Amino acid sequence: MPRSLSGRSFLKLLDFTTEEIQYLLELAKDFKRMKRAGVPHKYLAGKNIVLLFEKTSTRTRCSFEVAGNDLGMGVTYLDPGSSQMGKKESLEDTARVLGRMFDGIEYRGFAQQVVEDLARYAGVPVWNGLTTEFHPTQMLADVLTIEENFGRYKGLKMVFMGDARNNVANSLMVVSAKLGINFVACGPKENMPDKALVDVCKKIAKENGCTITLTDDVKKGTKGADVIYTDIWVSMGEPDEIWAERIKLLSPYQVNDAVMANANPEAIFLHCLPSFHDLETTIGKEINDKFGIPEMEVTDKVFRSPQSKVFDEAENRMHTIKAVMYATLK
Ligand code: CP
Ligand code: NVA
Repeated sequence: MPRSLSGRSFLKLLDFTTEEIQYLLELAKDFKRMKRAGVPHKYLAGKNIVLLFEKTSTRTRCSFEVAGNDLGMGVTYLDPGSSQMGKKESLEDTARVLGRMFDGIEYRGFAQQVVEDLARYAGVPVWNGLTTEFHPTQMLADVLTIEENFGRYKGLKMVFMGDARNNVANSLMVVSAKLGINFVACGPKENMPDKALVDVCKKIAKENGCTITLTDDVKKGTKGADVIYTDIWVSMGEPDEIWAERIKLLSPYQVNDAVMANANPEAIFLHCLPSFHDLETTIGKEINDKFGIPEMEVTDKVFRSPQSKVFDEAENRMHTIKAVMYATLK
């Protein structure tokens, strides 16, 4: 059992030990069982949390709201642009005000420094719901989904395909190093994770008996993989002008039948979502009109295949976020 996480913020996985991450996963499993069995768990009744979003969201927002309600808490949502923060009020003042009213604060936005500063001034736990650099709550759901499918995660091979320097890829590399998962970043040289972060992760991986590999070779990278993971090619906050360059660079790293055939026959496909796998979105249609590609980071066939566990993964966001809030607020 790790030391108590009560009062801690959840800003990035580098701040947590292997045992602490494992503890959060165990807690999430307990909460999932309770939810499935209809066992009430309003353990945090009387507390209140605020969700501060500077970027849009479906899963993260809904996970915090449902998990907060299940735990008996009051939940306030501040949507992009509706708080005074940044425009009329400094980050420090906003954090001090919210910390006087709420027991916990979720933040989704831009620089990691913002969420770190919020935690510094708020005086209550702050949870990172995605920054430019990291997306730590996503990883707990991902590892839980992997464990549900393989009965373990240590020693497995997970490959991230595509924009391997984005928030999701960075966090996947960290969680893999912490939990003994062999991680491969498979993408063009231009889109590899930051060297300083790679070095830190390689050191942690060594302590936990696993490896971190960077490669631009799809065949080698995905060979025998247990988990194939991808994310959209242009993240929130990046300019639209970048699509042309990204499509050119990342198309060879699309997750398709050939990639899945090269992986372990039992391999699963994961994606944090949202995903451009068909023409049912406005951006997907615009990109197809402009560049003639009806599917992007993953083919519709792989996305809808039995190997794809993306909707279990999405559900697990809620159970794992509940674990994070409970552990830090109890
Ligand atoms: N995966 C994820 O964070 O989804 P949302 O952007 O919908 O929250
Ligand atoms: N890399 C994506 C993740 C979305 C959940 C983004 O930042 O937009």
